[in-house]
Amino acid sequence: MSTTTDILGRDDPNDLEAILAVTNTDVDEVLHEVSAGVDTLFTWDYERSRPALGKLYEKAKTSQWNASTDLDWSIEVDLEKEVANRPTLGTMAQMGLIDLSKTPVASWGKDEWTRFDMESAVWSLSQFLHGEQGALLCTARIIETVPWIDAKYYAATQVVDEARHVEVFGRYLQEKMSGHYPINAHLRMLLDDIMADSRWDITYLGMQIMVEGLALAAFGFMHMMTQEPLLKKLLRYVMSDEARHVAFGVLSLKEFYAGLTEAEIRERQEFAFEAAVRMRDRFLQQEVWERMGVEPLEVIRFLRDMAPQQEDPFQQMLFSKIVPNCKKLGLLDAGGGWLRERFTEIGVIQFEDWVDTGEEYESLDEVAKDRASA
Ligand SMILES: [Fe+2]
Ligand SMILES: [Fe+2]
Repeated sequence: MSTTTDILGRDDPNDLEAILAVTNTDVDEVLHEVSAGVDTLFTWDYERSRPALGKLYEKAKTSQWNASTDLDWSIEVDLEKEVANRPTLGTMAQMGLIDLSKTPVASWGKDEWTRFDMESAVWSLSQFLHGEQGALLCTARIIETVPWIDAKYYAATQVVDEARHVEVFGRYLQEKMSGHYPINAHLRMLLDDIMADSRWDITYLGMQIMVEGLALAAFGFMHMMTQEPLLKKLLRYVMSDEARHVAFGVLSLKEFYAGLTEAEIRERQEFAFEAAVRMRDRFLQQEVWERMGVEPLEVIRFLRDMAPQQEDPFQQMLFSKIVPNCKKLGLLDAGGGWLRERFTEIGVIQFEDWVDTGEEYESLDEVAKDRASA
């Protein structure tokens, strides 16, 4: 069994100085290599014995969409106007809803805050872009490593979905924004840990349950906040796909985890906790403060003292899909409720009885809805 220090590299999950000390020191890197000794598994058992995965596979085939033709790329995006309409840190600071007079940004006026909000929007989409590539590589891996034919079929459709997601976020950043930010160090650590592990269920747990569970919640939030029609439709369609992806994780792991020992489950609990904290850490968006010429620690510490991460509603909302899905997999309460305690400490346990994503994909299929009404 591991301690918090073994898992996270620090004693206190909320140690801001330690979190911000982890940075991407190689921002010009183009190719990033991760080694893993994975076993490629053929199966000669072609029997379709998992109807829930079969149903998901059928859904995936009929709900494909084409990023080139289903989205209107001629729409012009005015990012400055767009961020002015969102409840951002900048708009709240300018309205006097947050008092930052004792921080390094005390002198900021409209220009600086507008720039900050625009950078923040570009940064957020950039991290989604990198996460989507992580999903692309993970699902390609799952095709090779998962032992079940129904799961190999389904994962193949997800590879196409993820290629499309990388394509749309990449294109949006390139054509409608100012290019992308490098990957955040906390997100990269998490993606590295997922890819470096040769166990197929860890690929699922890290990507399908944790990264995609968070993405589904975050895309939903961004979709609610944005008025920009291209981004809104792009997010609606990406979320339709993501709901299937999370369901794929829940359906597959539920079966597999039922057969694991307590010690094996504990390793999965620890992995889920590490992933949760890494993802939370990345949302401090330290790179945006740096680009604005501000030392991140002081201002982030001030903001955190005002609203600690474990009490911040936005941070908490990001876990609204992850926690019920972990519960459904039995990870919350196994081994004396170790993960329940950790999720309580980081302030996200209240979502445990929210709807899990095992079935939700049917109601979130916006692509099918649009086709039916066309
Ligand atoms: Fe995706
Ligand atoms: Fe996905």
